[in-house]
Amino acid sequence: MTDHPAYDRDLQEIAARLPLIAALDERALEAEYIALLGRKQGRLTEFLKTVLPGLPDGEKRTAGQRANSLRAQLGAAFEARKTALAADAAAKTARGTDLTMPGRPRWRGGIHPVTQVVEEILSIFHGLGFARATGPEVETEWLNFGALNFPPDHPAMDMHDTLYLDAPDRRQNRTSGLAAEHERRERNEGRLLMRTHTSPVQIRVMLETPPPVRVVIPGSVYRKDTFDASHAPVFAQIEGLAVDEGISFVDLKATLAHFAREFFGLSTAVRFRPSFFPFTEPSAEMDVSCGVCGGGGCPACKGTGWMEILGAGMVHPNVLTNCGIDAERYTGFAFGMGPGRIAMNRYGISDIRLLYEGDMRFLQQFADPGARR
Ligand code: PHE
Repeated sequence: MTDHPAYDRDLQEIAARLPLIAALDERALEAEYIALLGRKQGRLTEFLKTVLPGLPDGEKRTAGQRANSLRAQLGAAFEARKTALAADAAAKTARGTDLTMPGRPRWRGGIHPVTQVVEEILSIFHGLGFARATGPEVETEWLNFGALNFPPDHPAMDMHDTLYLDAPDRRQNRTSGLAAEHERRERNEGRLLMRTHTSPVQIRVMLETPPPVRVVIPGSVYRKDTFDASHAPVFAQIEGLAVDEGISFVDLKATLAHFAREFFGLSTAVRFRPSFFPFTEPSAEMDVSCGVCGGGGCPACKGTGWMEILGAGMVHPNVLTNCGIDAERYTGFAFGMGPGRIAMNRYGISDIRLLYEGDMRFLQQFADPGARR
């Protein structure tokens, strides 16, 4: 076809691209359409618009016919490829998606039962004007024991009961005044340990804040206990402390009885039994009537009708003095409870390990209904 005029090469080149259309993917197909038939820069469009009108009359007719037929063929080829690609895509989706499969519900998470109990207890005390305070879990021997009036040979300080650290105390003096003095003293004389109770935070609060003091202190405490159905080496405590002029044992009893009725229900009975803690004098343990049997006796209360929920007492004058508080002028009460044990009593959980295992089948029972399936 070499004897054909110049425009012929143009049409031939365009025609050569026709058979390739059937192999193009979606994006290439679109680009090729624009390149050949696009209204602005399409090569064939251009031919029809600008080349054709300029041809001599003798050639115009044949060239026009060929160009138009090519345009029709191209149009049909583009259309066919488009339909084929759409059919392909539909077949693929149909194969890959099982429309009968149930959807996956969104996992919303829930609050751990012990955390729920902690928050509930704190909010009852907030209602009575107690603020929230916290302290470090790594504590000095002085703040965990000494300042709390433990005698130096008290068995709680034994290596069997307490987790000591052999790390040197490299902490900065984060506290000021008297607290810094205590920490300096401790750095020289004492060891570091994982706190065995939240009571050292009583000391920290009293060293930093002059009376009146009303705080509740949630936190984790550590004891060298074997992990079994009723013991965990790490567990939660909530400490309470009130120091002011004229605070008496009546305030202690009334406050804790109010708490018990708010938390366990208005018909809950409380009783106080004498007890001993080095940092309170007198000391007591408070029981509440068993919420499971109502006081008649059942396995949850070991047949007694009562459940022990906290230790308490009037702050020992030595403790106030250790914190630079005038023990002649001020008195106070303190209490400490284990929200884990309280959660177990409340929900009838018989093995403490369930609270630590993270088993969703267990935890989901305490999540709010929206978090359940
Ligand atoms: N710290 C005590 C304990 O861990 C509880 C307690 C706190 C008792 C405050 C009296 C006053 O057993």
